Amino acid sequence: MLKKNNSIKLIKYYSFINYNLIYNNTAINRYKKDNFEISKDKAIELEQLKKSIVNLKNCNLKKQAKNLVFSDGNPKSKIMLIGEAPGANEDLEGLPFVGRAGQLLDKMLAAINLDRRKVYISNIVNYRPPENRKPTQQEIDIYLPFINKHIEIINPKILVLLGSTAMNALIGSEFVISKMRGKWIEKKFGSCKVSLIVTFHPAFLMRQPAQKKLAWIDLKMIRDKKTKLKI
Ligand code: URA
Repeated sequence: MLKKNNSIKLIKYYSFINYNLIYNNTAINRYKKDNFEISKDKAIELEQLKKSIVNLKNCNLKKQAKNLVFSDGNPKSKIMLIGEAPGANEDLEGLPFVGRAGQLLDKMLAAINLDRRKVYISNIVNYRPPENRKPTQQEIDIYLPFINKHIEIINPKILVLLGSTAMNALIGSEFVISKMRGKWIEKKFGSCKVSLIVTFHPAFLMRQPAQKKLAWIDLKMIRDKKTKLKI
């Protein structure tokens, strides 16, 4: 039998070493879902979408590109970002925003407590235009049905369009970014209803750092919307 004093010491010791966390009688759930596990339907739909882009016949971009750049991030995310087109680094890695513009994008997201693993990222065009030129209207028109479908499948609550190519492709060629940035627009993509905001592309911000103060306003709007929508 333990003496009373000894039992108290033992209890204090176990609470000090956090005994309950170290030894727990409940079985380990090895099939626990993590945050990235998506529904089978969503996974199938994304795979089908990817296949239809891979099977595209009438596109010159893919003949010169090394890889398809489909997306990065969490397909379950309620925040989706769309850029213009892959550059050289993205083409090599098959992932969007991994070059210098991507590093700035990561910093922009970090400024509002987000990171690329928490959001979902894609581009208007899925293959790199040669010499990093802007995609032509004809190229954009080829990929538009795919990005529209992509948004519908991901079904985000917040959609962030990075730069004028994404803005003109998805909300209209008549708009100029200096007037459209920093405004919430409610829009439907198929069955998906989103709050959409346009902000500057990180590559533009690298060339025009003075515009970062406006981008910061947009980022704060995204942070506040995220809180309002309880995302
Ligand atoms: N610029 C973009 O618009 N998309 C990328 O993936 C990389 C750079």
